Amino acid sequence: ARKIIIDTDPGQDDAVALLLALASPEELDLLGVTCVAGNVPLARTHTNARMVCEVAGHPEVKVFAGCEAPLERPLMTAEFVHGRTGLDGPDLWEPEMPLQDQHGVDFLIDTLRSEAPGTVTLCTLGPLTNIGAAFRKAPDIIDRVQELVMMGGAYFEVGNVSPAAEFNILVDPEAAETVFKSGVAITMMPLDVTHKVLTLSSRRQAFRDLGTKVGVFTADMLDFFERFDVEKYGSDGGPLHDPCVIAYLLKPALFSGRHINVEIETQSSLTVGMTVADWWRVTDRTPNAMFMRDVDDTGFFELLTERLGRL
Ligand code: BDR
Ligand code: CA
Repeated sequence: ARKIIIDTDPGQDDAVALLLALASPEELDLLGVTCVAGNVPLARTHTNARMVCEVAGHPEVKVFAGCEAPLERPLMTAEFVHGRTGLDGPDLWEPEMPLQDQHGVDFLIDTLRSEAPGTVTLCTLGPLTNIGAAFRKAPDIIDRVQELVMMGGAYFEVGNVSPAAEFNILVDPEAAETVFKSGVAITMMPLDVTHKVLTLSSRRQAFRDLGTKVGVFTADMLDFFERFDVEKYGSDGGPLHDPCVIAYLLKPALFSGRHINVEIETQSSLTVGMTVADWWRVTDRTPNAMFMRDVDDTGFFELLTERLGRL
């Protein structure tokens, strides 16, 4: 199985991504979960991550707390999307499984140094603060990463929190810049993809119909989550962003895109956080990211529903 670390700020869609990974032990060996401040403050994100592991019946997963604020800016959160807890929808509880003592950034560094080079994949579902901090503190680990698969950015589909920027990049553009300039192999799931992965009511019902704790928990989360997007975009169902990262590892053929250069805007107050994507290769800048643009959304939901049914 492929070794992965999930870096996350749950978030209902982060939670579904975590469940998908936990349901797929044959393909994915989850070394740990590093939490970051993003959708909600850090204390909520690591509480939520542990709750999700408990729902899935996996209290043995190692969950770490990482950075509580972006590298060079104050934190911006998204309770207006995810609710006060970040996981509004189902009835929540105080998780019993422990939080690891080690800082998430140190876990990332130690793991990449101790595992064989090129064997650990980083899956990022939130702002890139933890990864940026680790790459700055220990640049020797950059070459040891197999691939970094992220939910983040947008180009043709433009922004969801500013007209130009997607949330995960906007929260910590300096961390994103560190990652995009690092030379690490990046695969991006931008809004261009995730806005095609809609939690239609029939799809939410399919989760509920699993009749399991995980199925009902997922449906309860997504019934809440889609409200925001229905009001905003007028669609039946909201975009299920973060699980695209895990689905890509399980079934890459669901996605297509181009290997191109992507740079992060960090200066302009108007377009800060923008992922400037050279889709038509009009510059001679070196390609640094696989920028996904299309997805087989039916295939995606078949995979997700089947996998969640295993938990
Ligand atoms: C991203 O922002 C968060 O609100 C979601 O969890 C997702 O990672 C989408 O822009
Ligand atoms: Ca997220």
